[in-house]
Amino acid sequence: MDIAILGGTGKEGAGLAARWAAAGHAVVIGSRDAARARAKAAELRALTGKSAVTGESNAEAARRGGVIVLALPAAGLAQTLPELAEGCRGKVVVSTVVPLSFGGGRLFTPPPAGSSAEEAQALLPEATVVAAFHHIAAHELSATEHAIECDLLLCGGDAAAKATVAELGRSMGLRAIDVGGLGNAGPLEGITAVLATINRRYKLKNSGIKITGL
Ligand SMILES: NC(=O)c1ccc[n+]([C@@H]2O[C@H](COP(=O)([O-])OP(=O)(O)OC[C@H]3O[C@@H](n4cnc5c(N)ncnc54)[C@H](OP(=O)(O)O)[C@@H]3O)[C@@H](O)[C@H]2O)c1
Repeated sequence: MDIAILGGTGKEGAGLAARWAAAGHAVVIGSRDAARARAKAAELRALTGKSAVTGESNAEAARRGGVIVLALPAAGLAQTLPELAEGCRGKVVVSTVVPLSFGGGRLFTPPPAGSSAEEAQALLPEATVVAAFHHIAAHELSATEHAIECDLLLCGGDAAAKATVAELGRSMGLRAIDVGGLGNAGPLEGITAVLATINRRYKLKNSGIKITGL
């Protein structure tokens, strides 16, 4: 599958790219600066030994991707997504975005839409947004020599879109768990604030979530 990762120059996007490239997918790294995306793609080709990693501007990456992954900060969605609407039309858009603010007292700071995924869906009305990968730490993704110790919790309003994202998760060795409609994106994103707190308190970089009883 051709996967475009917008904001793929960052830690989370690059980690996802490394795992998907290793699994045999073609990956296009997107950036606000195409040169930066190409440099990151070259780095990932060297790291993974896979040639199907390229870099483009976010707009061109969105046009090329069959599935589009949002791996940029929550604060950038409103400015970034309207320009990418054409490239995202009719496609599955995966939101990994978590609205966390590390400066003040409250970590989880969701937008008025309730979650970053719902904000993305409102900004991209002709795409189908699935919320996923919030609990898979960049540090865990980039440690490609070992399996990821975490479940993939995902939610969205479209069963076929969720099946596509579940398959992408399975291709990197994750167990995918459907947690319902996009209205559950807020709780999913919020759990990341809990994981970030656990990481701080116990000096970790990669706490994650596993569901029991399934
Ligand atoms: N890091 C993790 O462990 C982790 C885990 C789960 C979920 N997430 C979520 O995944 C997303 C990416 O995380 P990250 O740690 O990789 O973030 P990051 O490094 O802060 O940002 C990723 C990329 O987004 C682009 N960007 C930065 N500010 C932007 C803006 N205002 N508008 C548009 N693009 C902007 C930058 O790329 P260019 O400058 O090249 O455009 C940057 O390299 C976040 O929403 C985060 O909450 C992260």
